[in-house]
Amino acid sequence: MTPRKILVTSALPYANGEIHLGHLLEYIQTDIWVRFQKMMGNECHYVCADDAHGTPIMLKANELGISPEELIAGVSERHQADFKDFAIGFSQYHSTHSEENREISTGIYNKLNDAGFIKRRTISQAFDPEKQMFLPDRFIKGDCPKCGAVDQYGDNCEVCGATYSPTELKNAKSAISGATPVTKDSEHYFFDLPQFEDQLKDWTNAGHLQDEISNKLSEWFEHGLQQWDISRDAPYFGFQIPGVENKYFYVWLDAPIGYMASFKKLCNEKGIDFDEYFNKGSDTELYHFIGKDIVYFHALFWPATLMGSNYRTPNAIFAHGFLTVNGQKMSKSRGTFIQARTYLDSLNPECLRYYYAYKLSAKIDDIDLNLEDFKQRVNSDLVGKVVNIASRSAGFIVKKFNKTLSAYAIEGDLYNDFIAKGDVIAELYEARNYNQAMREIMKLADKANQYIDEHKPWQLVKEEGKEAQVHDVTSLAINLFRVLMTYLKPVLPVMAEQAEEFLNIDALNWDDIQDPLTKHQINKFKPLMSRIEDEQISSVIEASKQSVETAKEQPEDDNMIQIDDFTKIDLRIAKIVKAQHVDGADKLLQLTLDIGEESTRNVFAGIKAHYSPEDLEGRLTVMVANLAPRKMKFGVSEGMVLAAGDGKSLHILSPDSGAKPGMKIS
Ligand code: 2FM
Ligand code: ZN
Repeated sequence: MTPRKILVTSALPYANGEIHLGHLLEYIQTDIWVRFQKMMGNECHYVCADDAHGTPIMLKANELGISPEELIAGVSERHQADFKDFAIGFSQYHSTHSEENREISTGIYNKLNDAGFIKRRTISQAFDPEKQMFLPDRFIKGDCPKCGAVDQYGDNCEVCGATYSPTELKNAKSAISGATPVTKDSEHYFFDLPQFEDQLKDWTNAGHLQDEISNKLSEWFEHGLQQWDISRDAPYFGFQIPGVENKYFYVWLDAPIGYMASFKKLCNEKGIDFDEYFNKGSDTELYHFIGKDIVYFHALFWPATLMGSNYRTPNAIFAHGFLTVNGQKMSKSRGTFIQARTYLDSLNPECLRYYYAYKLSAKIDDIDLNLEDFKQRVNSDLVGKVVNIASRSAGFIVKKFNKTLSAYAIEGDLYNDFIAKGDVIAELYEARNYNQAMREIMKLADKANQYIDEHKPWQLVKEEGKEAQVHDVTSLAINLFRVLMTYLKPVLPVMAEQAEEFLNIDALNWDDIQDPLTKHQINKFKPLMSRIEDEQISSVIEASKQSVETAKEQPEDDNMIQIDDFTKIDLRIAKIVKAQHVDGADKLLQLTLDIGEESTRNVFAGIKAHYSPEDLEGRLTVMVANLAPRKMKFGVSEGMVLAAGDGKSLHILSPDSGAKPGMKIS
């Protein structure tokens, strides 16, 4: 069969943060697939790059007092060291801030513009008059327009969960300078996505996407496609729009083009034909591995950008779910927001590669890294099953048989059973059902161990005249180990290399296992992997907690909480002894609440539109009694009253009859 020509990408990590275990889920998933393709004899290139443009990177560099170029150079070095140590085998790792990317991005923009796909119109946005820059939503802070909580982001309130536009924030301030933003007009450039609606509908239903993703896209089509704002005003770290002063491409325009740019660099270095991979009608294959959060960019904007500029479109987008750790979103305070380097300081990277493979499928469900299960799974499967086959057999070959395998290595059908599974396992890898592939491989490992257990070479060796049998049994075991390591090589490339050294062979290869090793000299066995101990895991957790204490804490928005988290909230029955209007406040009422303590509580509640003070006085309700006091414009609020609402109406909670002020809610 002629080898396939395949180009594979993973999403480009932003150049302002470190690689963590969430990122690695994708790089490991992709790397396994690429290594598998290469083992199948296909020509497979795997490219990636740092995503180096945008406001956050520009501001971070400012904050550190260095240029964005200096910032991204340092980050790139650390990213690449992390990837190397996790054995992520990129063919090329580049940066979106590169000449190749400037050239291709500019070329694509010009083609889109010439073809009438770029539209211009003026929009109004928040502007920082001190810094003289437009402010993305996340760089505006102020008081929540719904509950009054101070210091909330421009698009949502972390206290009451309300979403709003930054212009609705009260006392809005620029998070960069502290200045009050003004509204300012500016002309923006839009990619006219609606012109691609028919083509995109065809493309998204033509088998390039997982079913869950196609279904999601149908919903988006129902809502109607919008033009996409692809310009940002200066100051901005990015590429200038050709011929337009002070305007830059939005980072998400040139990021996926970064895939092409990284590949272009590889082509230049290796003499590969770039056009063969990107020209329309190409019969090479192009795949993008991504997280499900960036599907919109990859399944709509990206193919439309390629269609509009006359390039080929991807064969498929492979989306995966998010990573949770111990069943929850990664958390800095729990020490489960684990950076690649922190993991590497205590644990073997191939353990994580195996565990992710054991969990990953072609679906977009989230993947949980349960650290206890991780330890047990690795210890039981890799150390207890796979490595054990070699370690319990190698000694005999080395000491008794001059390191040489016997001439006869096939006992019954066992070896043939092993190689007969090769096609199924290959299909599972190809379809990204690594979880099933790992289960098939481990079933074989169990069989190999059973075989050794049944033949007990350690007993046979003591019996007269059984030497040849010991030799055959242990030689077959070593051959079975060789087959297993061949199947595991895409997942465990480093261990596979050590196995090659031990077996004294060239690279383990899918086709070679058809012939067992006979009369072949091996090398002394060295332990290939050691058990994971609890202490290693706790030191990763501890180190992850510490790295947070020194870094700035990011707000967390875990979806799930533990019972301990819930019991931290002191919910009490409160009697509204007084309710009154607040001078100058449009939305607030001031409540005086009796919760069975000596003194009453003062709470400002955003309920003025829904209740008159006189309706409230004397009523019982529920309050959060241990919410840290919040300073608001009109005074300090010492708690929060619970209410239900749908954005239009609002209803204060009331207890059933018999409840008394101060009663605890559990
Ligand atoms: O979401 C992210 O982390 C982006 N930096 C991914 C970019 S992928 C591609 F389009 F460049
Ligand atoms: Zn709020």
